[in-house]
Amino acid sequence: MFLRGFGPVFQAGLVRVGDPPREEPERSVIALAQRAGVEDGHRILDAGCGVAGPAVIIARHFPAVVIDAVTNSARQVAIGGERIRAAGLSDRVRIHLADYQRLPFRSEAFDRVLFFESTGYATDLDLTYQEAYRVLAPGGGLYVKDVFRDPEVGGELATERIEAFDRLWGCVRTKTLSESVAAILRAGFKKTSASPMPELGTASFAGSMFLLDGHALGRSEFGDAFLSAALGGPIEFGEIRAVKP
Ligand SMILES: C[S@@+](CC[C@H](N)C(=O)[O-])C[C@H]1O[C@@H](n2cnc3c(N)ncnc32)[C@H](O)[C@@H]1O
Repeated sequence: MFLRGFGPVFQAGLVRVGDPPREEPERSVIALAQRAGVEDGHRILDAGCGVAGPAVIIARHFPAVVIDAVTNSARQVAIGGERIRAAGLSDRVRIHLADYQRLPFRSEAFDRVLFFESTGYATDLDLTYQEAYRVLAPGGGLYVKDVFRDPEVGGELATERIEAFDRLWGCVRTKTLSESVAAILRAGFKKTSASPMPELGTASFAGSMFLLDGHALGRSEFGDAFLSAALGGPIEFGEIRAVKP
């Protein structure tokens, strides 16, 4: 349904690129990879990779990167594998059925570990970043772009609303940016920087929940499943960069 309704990049917040700025998944993913410091020749782990939408886009843009992409969904592995084959990228992009909290890779195997809107599903945030740390080579970089709980909005109502948001998306728990940074530092990372990304756009994501039927605006299949008051939860987009010393 995500594929039909929104496309192969499963991210609600897109970087607006161009003049005039536009929300376009492909250019957004490339912008994120650039913000993550991805360079040609890097070995990349895409942690929580969906149907390899971002992995295919990054591999096309950087012709010498090698990407291992992991998801804990067998269905996504099957669809993602097909997409990688169809893109002719099987020699450089591999998709694995694995839990990013228990990675099936040797230590120090990667130059970059990317989490794009996937840490909200972690059952153990410490383990998540410990594993990212383990598989990164010294000097390697972690990049997290995600939906975080807005720390400015507190109280019982905010807690109820974030719980409704988590139920809507099947998240284990949406964390705050600072809570995530604390777990990243506990894992041993240094040079951590974190900031909200208010410039991200959600119009494309929200727009995919509607369709025009003649002159009437209706809900799309995607909107039927996800259009809900819980979408307006107390959330913000943000990014975190950190380096393994
Ligand atoms: C919102 S989607 C984002 C997908 C992808 N990063 C993208 O941009 O298209 C979240 C992804 O995280 C994956 N995921 C959630 N928990 C996971 C875990 N413990 N280990 C591996 N993948 C996980 C989901 O299966 C899904 O692919």
